[in-house]
Amino acid sequence: MAPHLRTFLLLLLLSAASTGAQTGSQLVTDVCDATSFSDFCRSVLLSDPRSSAADLAQLGAVAIHLTRSNATSSLAFIQSLAASAPGDQRLEACEAAYRSAVASVGRAEGMWRDGDLTGVTNAAFEAVDDSFHCADAFGKDEAAKSPLVKNTRDLEYLSHVVLVLCDVRQGPHSHS
Ligand SMILES: *[C@@H]1O[C@H](CO)[C@@H](O)[C@H](O)[C@H]1NC(C)=O
Repeated sequence: MAPHLRTFLLLLLLSAASTGAQTGSQLVTDVCDATSFSDFCRSVLLSDPRSSAADLAQLGAVAIHLTRSNATSSLAFIQSLAASAPGDQRLEACEAAYRSAVASVGRAEGMWRDGDLTGVTNAAFEAVDDSFHCADAFGKDEAAKSPLVKNTRDLEYLSHVVLVLCDVRQGPHSHS
């Protein structure tokens, strides 16, 4: 499937969580219940001690930070694989994809602070697309054997959590 089509389908799957003015672990639960991977979502968000007392703005900053540091650490992992397999075009494609994801998510940090939710949403969608580009580089048959299955899944899921947070912060009015 083309990355943009999958991104579009992902958008359709997003459902707004009703969070009111909650903070802390209830907010984490509500945000994560709006994903199809709530256990992963909860365990990643709560791996940062700030999450358990965070309001929406703080939780978004944490989620974007976690996404960026994960993409950064996956990029380092890909570079180490590429160093021992020179000329492997799949790894080169993944390296380029993760460089792009680190840049997009890095921009999202300031945009979230400024309340630029459209900018953050676009950056998170770009990061989802980047995860698909890396997965696609290994092709259908090899996808399961890719050494980066977990990395691409983590980038996709973390970016999806950021999209849910944008959706929640945007509020119910934007949906009508
Ligand atoms: C993030 O990235 C690393 C790659 O170094 C990976 O092994 C790790 O499990 C990832 N996931 C999360 C959720 O932190």
